[in-house]
Amino acid sequence: MQIEPLIQGVVARSSHPYGCRASIKEQIDFVKQAPQIKKGPKRVLIIGASSGFGLAARIALTFGGAEADTIGVSFERGPSDKGVGSAGWYNNIFFKEEAIHHGRTAINIVGDAFSDTVRNQVIEAIETYFEGEVDLVIYSLATGVRPMPNSEEFWRSVIKPIGESVTGASIMLENDQWVESSLEPATEEEAAATIKVMGGDDWESWIDALINSESVAEGCKTIAFSYMGPEVTHPIYLDGTLGRAKVDLHQTSHSLNLKMANFGGSAHATVCKALVTKASVFIPALSPYLLALYRVMKEKGTHERCIEQMQRLFTTKLYDQEKVPVDGERLIRIDDLELDPQVQQEVSAILEQMNADNFKELGDYEGFKDEFMKLNGFNFEGVDYSQDISLKTLKALKP
Ligand code: NAI
Repeated sequence: MQIEPLIQGVVARSSHPYGCRASIKEQIDFVKQAPQIKKGPKRVLIIGASSGFGLAARIALTFGGAEADTIGVSFERGPSDKGVGSAGWYNNIFFKEEAIHHGRTAINIVGDAFSDTVRNQVIEAIETYFEGEVDLVIYSLATGVRPMPNSEEFWRSVIKPIGESVTGASIMLENDQWVESSLEPATEEEAAATIKVMGGDDWESWIDALINSESVAEGCKTIAFSYMGPEVTHPIYLDGTLGRAKVDLHQTSHSLNLKMANFGGSAHATVCKALVTKASVFIPALSPYLLALYRVMKEKGTHERCIEQMQRLFTTKLYDQEKVPVDGERLIRIDDLELDPQVQQEVSAILEQMNADNFKELGDYEGFKDEFMKLNGFNFEGVDYSQDISLKTLKALKP
């Protein structure tokens, strides 16, 4: 079969395995020529390792100077008679292939990070491959659901404003259409469920499990990712349900920091730049901002993708420094270039003019869509998209 891109709304329903391999290689090439991580961690656990920031962190730590071995947890779909499988599935496979070739250990654990089964698998893998201890734990999950413990029910996160409704546009990647919609405010129950799914609770329970199993090495650090954004995005993000969950995550970072101090280590929430990922294109009313931001930052030469963000995080913030630089709320800020006042002034000027008729001209829609296609293994030069790929070949690839 030939694998074609299939997009439904803002969700990719297909992925190209060899394009995913090209994407991994491109990211590896980038970190190899970037400033190197000098005093990085050697044994790293990444929860949410198969795409976006988690995958970029994994690549940076393995190939960008630290020479780390990694255990990556993710929830991905393999090939079946229903479809070719998700991009993250192939990212896991081809990352591991490259890491092994580079002489590093890379273990993929595919399953629900909220479950005890996966926690136990991870602890076992730490025993087997890391001599029982980890030096860094990266928590990079993005999900809409979390099973309630010992129950058949789920908490479901919602992306909604709090207090007042918000009107904004989403861009349907399926047909390049700008769709205006109004989002009603979340109920208290919805906001509380979003905190359960995307707040700090599960990060803390992972760290507790690792402490209890004596898997935390002396000096071990842990980070989780957050977003704050400029004022134009606050109604849908920071002041909405996701923002509440992120505030909860920030608070968790402080309590975890006390626990990690017992091991001479630390915990930090790290505020990243807005980027096109599987998770972020889902956020209503954020896409116009992303289009304007991409245009301005590319023009200024300051645009970064997940991989640039992660390499810069490890070389200039988390490692190689006497002290981790933080803001007044003890957050690591790697969103500094996004929040540059000049950038934001130009972004606001574009947003004021942007509408359904001109968003492709005013914003960087081409770059936005290209990045989305690349996340799923499409649009890579050098990949022969007309090649015939059999399901049998794909099924033989194991994470
Ligand atoms: P992503 O969708 O690219 O990656 C999410 C990862 O979580 C994938 O590896 C996926 O397999 C894994 N995952 C999801 N549910 C799982 C489950 N139940 N069990 C195991 N693994 C599971 O998302 P992205 O954008 O990289 O987000 C990661 C973190 O970064 C999130 O906390 C997000 O809020 C934050 N962030 C994202 C920004 C953006 O613009 N994309 C900006 C700033 C922060």
